[in-house]
Amino acid sequence: MAGIPRSVLITGANRGLGLELVRQMAEGPSPIRHLLACCRDPDGPRGQALQDLAKRHPEVITVKQLDVTDLCSIQRCSQQVGSLVGVGGLNLLINNAAILLTGTMQTTSPEDMLATFNTNVLGPMNIIKAFLPHLCAAAAASSGMAAMSCSKAAVINLASVMGSMNLAPQTYHIVPSVFSYRVSKAALHMLTVCAALEFQQSEILFAALNPGWVKTDMGGEGGDLEASESVGGMIRVMDSLTEEQNGAFLNYDSTLLPW
Ligand SMILES: NC(=O)c1ccc[n+]([C@@H]2O[C@H](COP(=O)([O-])OP(=O)(O)OC[C@H]3O[C@@H](n4cnc5c(N)ncnc54)[C@H](OP(=O)(O)O)[C@@H]3O)[C@@H](O)[C@H]2O)c1
Repeated sequence: MAGIPRSVLITGANRGLGLELVRQMAEGPSPIRHLLACCRDPDGPRGQALQDLAKRHPEVITVKQLDVTDLCSIQRCSQQVGSLVGVGGLNLLINNAAILLTGTMQTTSPEDMLATFNTNVLGPMNIIKAFLPHLCAAAAASSGMAAMSCSKAAVINLASVMGSMNLAPQTYHIVPSVFSYRVSKAALHMLTVCAALEFQQSEILFAALNPGWVKTDMGGEGGDLEASESVGGMIRVMDSLTEEQNGAFLNYDSTLLPW
C-alpha cells in the first residue's frame, strides 16, 4: 500500500469481522488519516468493545452511529464524514454489516426475506449512493495515482460463497437453511458488478470479498478461520487490488471465486 494516509469507513464495526478490520487497520503499517468505525448503537453495551479500541487509537479512530437500514442515519453519517474528510474525500468504504436469518425457502417468511434484503442489499446500495460524493472527491484528490486502488477510491462489499450460484451444488448440502442470506448475497454480488461498470469512469474500484468461514457470531464456533487470519488476508487482498480486479469476486486468500 502506498504511504499516503487514507480515509476508511467500515460498517458493522462493533463486533466480528468489522471490529477486527478496525483493529488491524488502526494498528497496521499502512498510514490512516481517518478510520470511521460505524455501528448502529455506539453508546450501548454492543458498542463497548469498539469504544475501548477507539480510546486506544484516538488520533485515528472516530466512532459514528450508522444503522444501514435507516436512510436518515445514513444521510447524517455521510454529512458528518464529509465535514471530517474534507476535500481529501473517502478512499475506502467497506460494506461489512449484514444479518443472517435461518430458514429454508419453505420456512422463510416474507418479513425475514425483506429484513435480510433491507440490511444486506439496500443497506450497501443506500450507503454507496450517500457516500458517493466523498468517494468521487477521493478519486479527484488522488488523480495523480494509478487508475484504481483501495488507496485511491474503492468500495469493498463483504460477500459470501453462500451467494455463489456456481458453488451452490457444493455449499447447499453443507448449509441448506440460510435461504434469505444466500439470495441477498447473490444480489449483493450483482450490485457489485453493476456498480463497477457504472462508476468505472469515476475511477472508483468495486470488489466483492469473501472472508472465508470465520469464527464470529455469524460464522459460529465451527468456522475454519479466526477473525484475525481472515481479516489479515482481506487487508492484503485490498492492498493488492488494481483496475484488473474491478468488479471481481475474490476470496480472503486472493483466489478468484465463481459467481
Ligand atoms: N463469519 C463468516 O463466516 C462469514 C462468511 C462469509 C461472509 N461473511 C460476511 O462478513 C460480514 C461480517 O460478518 P461477521 O461474521 O462479522 O458477522 P457478525 O459477527 O454477525 O457481525 C455482524 C455485524 O453487522 C452489524 N449489523 C447488522 N445489522 C446492522 C444494521 N442494520 N446497521 C448497522 N450494523 C448492522 C452488527 O451490528 P449489531 O451488533 O448492532 O448487531 C455486527 O456489527 C457480513 O457481511 C457477512 O455476511 C461472514
